[in-house]
Amino acid sequence: MAQIIEVRKTELHDARVTTVDSAPLGEHQVRLAVASFGMTANNITYAVFGDMMSYWNFFPAPSGADYGVVPVWGFADVVESRAEGISEGERIYGYLPMANELVVTADRIKPGSFTDVSDHRLKLPSAYNNYVRCAADPSYDEAREDATMLLQPLFFTSFLIDDFLADNDFFGAAQVVATSASSKTGFGTAHMLAKRDGIRVVGLTSGPNVEFVEALGCYDDIYTYDNIDQISGGPTALIDFAGNQNVVMAVHQHFAEDLKHSAVIGGTHWDADRPEPAPMPGAKPEFFFAPTRIEVRAKDWGVAEMQRQLGEAFGEFVPFAEQFLAVEHVAGLENGVDVYLNVLGGNASASVAQIVTP
Ligand SMILES: NC(=O)c1ccc[n+]([C@@H]2O[C@H](COP(=O)([O-])OP(=O)(O)OC[C@H]3O[C@@H](n4cnc5c(N)ncnc54)[C@H](OP(=O)(O)O)[C@@H]3O)[C@@H](O)[C@H]2O)c1
Repeated sequence: MAQIIEVRKTELHDARVTTVDSAPLGEHQVRLAVASFGMTANNITYAVFGDMMSYWNFFPAPSGADYGVVPVWGFADVVESRAEGISEGERIYGYLPMANELVVTADRIKPGSFTDVSDHRLKLPSAYNNYVRCAADPSYDEAREDATMLLQPLFFTSFLIDDFLADNDFFGAAQVVATSASSKTGFGTAHMLAKRDGIRVVGLTSGPNVEFVEALGCYDDIYTYDNIDQISGGPTALIDFAGNQNVVMAVHQHFAEDLKHSAVIGGTHWDADRPEPAPMPGAKPEFFFAPTRIEVRAKDWGVAEMQRQLGEAFGEFVPFAEQFLAVEHVAGLENGVDVYLNVLGGNASASVAQIVTP
């Protein structure tokens, strides 16, 4: 039997575990038993932008189009295979449903990876359809699985944002302001930016997270959302992980023409008020989408060089992040619903990262 957490698309708090019969495998198909997956605000953003960004299309919900399955990053084991070259018992890393199993149609099978070419995934960004075969991944380390599923997809974005800003000479800015400074993607980016000469990194966060952000030590200054008018002026770039339009407006108004770049990255404050869109001073907000930037750098540097640089930076980030994050393991999908609801409600502590083992 397959179990899957489904979420009502129009009411994300309505989540439940649904059980369906496991379908028999077709030719080239592989059954993956999900071993564990991480849950952070990033997964909530997949749900919030489920329709707009097609995130609902990765894993269709058994109960039909009113429901969606939130994608997560995690590890799985091959438990049945009709794909030549892929054997039972293999460990796999990649994009998974909040479920205990996933059937993929494996193609482009290489020693280190394969791609799911199921019809419903063909038009979706390739970065999400690729699965790593751990046995042939030189960077795979069983002891680092928790850090990999919790941090790697987020840090990849942090690495790319830092590289994108540097590649554009920071658009003339001498300071970068990050919202949701306590988020893993946010502080991963700050960790990278802090190594750059001549760039100040300013974190914006909510009151309860100030202490956590201060302890990180990678922000030059930290302000709460109600103190934006106190940030020192000068040419600035905004990297927005919160998606809170009142905060974005306040930053644009504070810096006005000194706001040289405004990157729309995330939506951790997904349930904040949504004011009527209004003209904002400063640079026009521009969407930053990691998979698009991956394609740019894969062309510029080659995939191997991009992975080498990322692996090196990630290897250095993990021990840094582990000092500040406690990992909590939660067993069973019913409890996984609670983990999802906790993160959805913004009740998860910034210093606790959660992993669900279906
Ligand atoms: N564009 C891309 O390609 C891309 C790629 C990866 C990640 N992202 C985005 O980056 C963002 C950060 O993701 P993450 O997984 O790193 O987050 P995370 O570590 O789970 O972030 C937790 C922090 O987010 C804020 N937060 C979370 N839920 C909230 C809620 N309901 N209400 C108010 N604040 C809430 C709080 O920070 P504060 O108190 O500091 O605000 C909290 O400490 C996500 O929106 C994600 O989608 C974008």
